[in-house]
Amino acid sequence: MTRPVGFVGGGQMAEALIKGLIQAQTLTPEKIKVVEPVDQRRHYLEETYGVHTVPYLEDFVAEVEVFLLAVKPQVMESVLPPLKNLYTSQLIVSVAAGLPISVYQQQLGNNCPIVRVMPNLGALIQEGVSALCRNDLVNDADLDYATSLFNAVGSVVTVDERLMDAVTGLSGSGPAYVFSFIDAMIDAGVKTGLSRDVARELTIQTVLGATKCLLGTDIHPAVLRDQVTSPGGTTASGLYQLEAGAFKATIIEAVESACNRSRELGKN
Ligand SMILES: NC(=O)c1ccc[n+]([C@@H]2O[C@H](COP(=O)([O-])OP(=O)(O)OC[C@H]3O[C@@H](n4cnc5c(N)ncnc54)[C@H](OP(=O)(O)O)[C@@H]3O)[C@@H](O)[C@H]2O)c1
Repeated sequence: MTRPVGFVGGGQMAEALIKGLIQAQTLTPEKIKVVEPVDQRRHYLEETYGVHTVPYLEDFVAEVEVFLLAVKPQVMESVLPPLKNLYTSQLIVSVAAGLPISVYQQQLGNNCPIVRVMPNLGALIQEGVSALCRNDLVNDADLDYATSLFNAVGSVVTVDERLMDAVTGLSGSGPAYVFSFIDAMIDAGVKTGLSRDVARELTIQTVLGATKCLLGTDIHPAVLRDQVTSPGGTTASGLYQLEAGAFKATIIEAVESACNRSRELGKN
């Protein structure tokens, strides 16, 4: 059964979800409400998606069964007190990076079911991956409902909250690592004589094709790598240089460093 969802914040991530939910027919526009302070943004969301928007939280609370908090983490402290005044027993789902479930419990009370989500950039084009965790008050039906919301913008995994920093370091920050890899590949193509346009086309399609070879399979990436590496060949030579530059160790350290930074920010 679909439940009306009230977005608090109508920015980029909220728009990605609204678009995905309507396209996937998970929710009709009538089931989506948005609180957004900026007039221009409200008009845009209404005209583009046919959703109902309001400038103040108080204006839609009665109709909403799920609150989806999509404001910046630093804005959350100004959103939670007014939400507490209106809160009855709705499911709370938050995409705010780094804020632990305990923050919402402290502000809204301990009887509040909360799902914390870490989506990533891919959600903006319905190709994201989101990690969900929940507190003890979220039953399986609530978790399934939250999962269906994020399935509209990509795939979903469920983890314990203690692993959310690891998720942030891997899939949250991950698009930036991939962009850096793509940037380096393009520069490499230019260094070896290709035009930038051709190097870009070759690189992006190579990354996409390699990713699609793995998608939906359980083939280990090393198996495919070995299949394209002939003895004494060009790929073996390139791979040797990656190893000489500690490619794998550098990636592992980057993810670990981002995870540690997320843990540090969470404590503050
Ligand atoms: N974008 C991503 O790729 C991504 C990935 C993972 C997680 N997230 C999380 O998603 C959340 C939203 O990020 P975003 O990129 O969508 O940010 P955003 O585009 O800045 O959206 C936030 C929206 O909330 C509005 N807002 C501010 N104060 C409000 C209030 N009191 N009540 C209602 N709405 C209010 C903002 O309006 P103003 O412009 O007036 O401030 C803005 O339109 C963040 O917590 C972020 O950590 C985003």
